[in-house]
Amino acid sequence: ERPLRAVLLGCGTVGGGVLDGIRQSLAGDVTVEAILVSRHRKGRAPGRFFTEAESVFAAGPRLVIDCLPDGELAERLLELALQSGADIVSANKAVIARRPDVAVRARERGQILRFSAAVGGELPVLETVSRVRGEGRAILAVAGVVNGTSNFVLDRLAEGAGLDTAIRAAQALGFAEADPSADLEGRDAAAKLTLIARAAFGRDPDSVTLEAIDAGTPGRVREAAACGYRLRQIAILRATNAGVEASVSLTPRAPGDPLGDVRDEENAVRISCEGGDTILLTGRGAGREATASSVLSDIRAVIAARCGR
Ligand code: HSE
Repeated sequence: ERPLRAVLLGCGTVGGGVLDGIRQSLAGDVTVEAILVSRHRKGRAPGRFFTEAESVFAAGPRLVIDCLPDGELAERLLELALQSGADIVSANKAVIARRPDVAVRARERGQILRFSAAVGGELPVLETVSRVRGEGRAILAVAGVVNGTSNFVLDRLAEGAGLDTAIRAAQALGFAEADPSADLEGRDAAAKLTLIARAAFGRDPDSVTLEAIDAGTPGRVREAAACGYRLRQIAILRATNAGVEASVSLTPRAPGDPLGDVRDEENAVRISCEGGDTILLTGRGAGREATASSVLSDIRAVIAARCGR
């Protein structure tokens, strides 16, 4: 029935954006009955904002919207969400990547689980990969800039900023993870590659190699710039005879290369299909609006499936 009773887990950068989006464009379709926050703040209705997960689930949701940062709490609440029987929309790439059983169990139990926001911000990466695969076209490789924070930091370094200053700016703009080392060390990109691998190849990567942005990176950014190149954190997924290989590495890219030309927190993803076709997606990859818009499109899909629109 409509409106769909929903609860929201997390009301930070992404959760706050989702709440605004629901108010603005989905008011008659979804009601947010309860919101889990880490602490109470002035101006928040006490009957709607809770710091205890149990109080939130007591609202009897039919949809759980997960905008929590990665961690033990997020994992525990995803479990509660599964047990509640509700459909789930999650922006939590790290947990979904670490826990492949969540998608399997949701499918077995007839619960919808969507996580478009987990990869590529507003870019429909998982949707496009799934569509290509559904059309029976084999995907050979996926390459891209899938972490907005590292791209933003590399751009600031190219302008001469120091590493710490650049990282703090990415945090202030809401691009970085709660623990930004996940962005800088390539773990965030690797989690995204895992989700893409499941959609593209039906399996997790067999091998993963990572290269971190660290104290040596500013020098490499300058070296690349001296030749007119830009250093980028490039994430690659390849199907080889040895299995599915994933890598995240810092690579100089030439002007005119779509993976080199992405600016600030933008993402770009190139999907290479059998027969030479390639699909290129570019757009905002991180931040409140980009991520919230993807969560909202997942919520719309759940409404369409459950409330017939
Ligand atoms: N920290 C992530 C990034 C957020 O910078 O890309 C979006 O997934």
